[in-house]
Amino acid sequence: MPLADILTRIDGEHGRLSQLLGAVACICPDHAGRDDCRGCDPALARACEDALHEHLGEMLAFMTGHFRYEDGLMRDWRLIPVAPEACDDHQRDHTRISAAASRMVAELEPGNPRPGIRALHALLDHWIERHIAEHDQEMIRLLHGAAKA
Ligand SMILES: [Fe+2]
Ligand SMILES: [Fe+2]
Repeated sequence: MPLADILTRIDGEHGRLSQLLGAVACICPDHAGRDDCRGCDPALARACEDALHEHLGEMLAFMTGHFRYEDGLMRDWRLIPVAPEACDDHQRDHTRISAAASRMVAELEPGNPRPGIRALHALLDHWIERHIAEHDQEMIRLLHGAAKA
């Protein structure tokens, strides 16, 4: 695949990831006003929680697929021999983010996931932004170099 198409795909996936994360954070109909799920109609809260877990599953699966795609690029474009440390740091950060996100999802309080969702959104939003600026930008720089070689 030409580099321009790869860069478009990476950009598109970053956009989709932040969209999916935003959707998770907004799933509660009262997401701006409510700090937790206590006091909510139990039937509503249950439906909300089911939808939340479906969205979380989709978001985590998409994130894992995106990380796997980038790990594959580093391998297939032979960036690892050129910049072993940068690639290793990058791949480790993928593993770290995935593990932390899965752990936070597993630790959501049943019947009251709202506080955990706020924390998950805040952490992932910040991490992904930092990850893109720190690691993905460096990978893109290396891809440009590899395309010229
Ligand atoms: Fe990455
Ligand atoms: Fe990325």
